[in-house]
Amino acid sequence: MKPNIVILTGAGISQESGISTFRDSNGLWQNYDIKQVASPEAWQKNPDLVLDFYNQRRRQLLKVKPNAAHKAISELQKHFPVYVITQNVDDLHERAGNQNVLHLHGELLKVRSTKNPSLIYPWHKDLHRGDIAEDGAQLRPHIVWFGEAVPAINQAIKLTQQADIFIIVGTSMQVYPAAGLIQALPPNAQIFYIDPHPAPLNVNHHTKVIAQKSGVALPELVSQLIKKYVH
Ligand code: APR
Repeated sequence: MKPNIVILTGAGISQESGISTFRDSNGLWQNYDIKQVASPEAWQKNPDLVLDFYNQRRRQLLKVKPNAAHKAISELQKHFPVYVITQNVDDLHERAGNQNVLHLHGELLKVRSTKNPSLIYPWHKDLHRGDIAEDGAQLRPHIVWFGEAVPAINQAIKLTQQADIFIIVGTSMQVYPAAGLIQALPPNAQIFYIDPHPAPLNVNHHTKVIAQKSGVALPELVSQLIKKYVH
C-alpha cells in the first residue's frame, strides 16, 4: 500500500532558483516593510508602491527557473499520490511539472478584480493603476496579503488529514494558518523537515529533520522513498 504524501513548501524551496526568501539575512522583509507593500492598508495608502513591489517580483520570476527540489517532486509524483501545499506565489512547482499544487498565499502571475474576487486573470507583465478587470474595477495582485483570509486553508487541512508522510521544505513555520497545518496530521503520520536552519516543530509525530538545502536533500529523500516503497 503506497503512502499518501503531502508536501508543504515555503520560500526556501525556491531559494536555489535565485528567489530570495523573506526572513533569511538579506531576505525580502529585510528590505521592505511588510505593512507598506503586502497588506490591504498598504494598498489603500500607496497602491503604486504595492504594484511596484509585485512588478519587481514578477519580472524576476520570469527570469528564473525551477531547481532540483521542484523536479524531485515530479519524480516522486510518478510513484506516489502526492499533494503540494505551497506558501509560495511563484509558479516554479508548475513549471517543474508538479501536479496537484495548492497555493495558500495566491499566485504572482495572476491578478484579479478588486470588486469581484472571482474575476482572476493570468498576468505576466507589469500591473499599473488603470489596468482594469472586465467589471471595470482596478486589478490587484492575486496574492493573500497579511490580514486577509486564506481561502485554500480548508482544502489544505483536508489534504493534511489524509497524509501518511508530510514533507516540510524550506519554511520557517512562522506564518499561520500554514504553519498550523502540522496540527491536522493523523497521529501516525511521519514528518520529514528539510531546511538548513530548521525551526522547532513541537509535535509528537515521528520527525526526521534534514538540516540541508532542499536542492540536495529532497532528491535524496525522494530516491530513499522510492527504494523503500516501490522497488
Ligand atoms: N533549501 C531549503 N530551505 C531553505 C533554503 C534552501 N536552499 N534557503 C533558505 N531556506 C529556509 C530558511 O532556513 C527558512 O527557514 O527557508 C525558510 C524561509 O523562511 P521564510 O523566509 O520565513 O519563508 P516562508 O516560511 O515561506 O514564509 C511564509 O510568510 O511573508 C510571508 O506570505 C509570505 O509565504 C510567505 C510566508
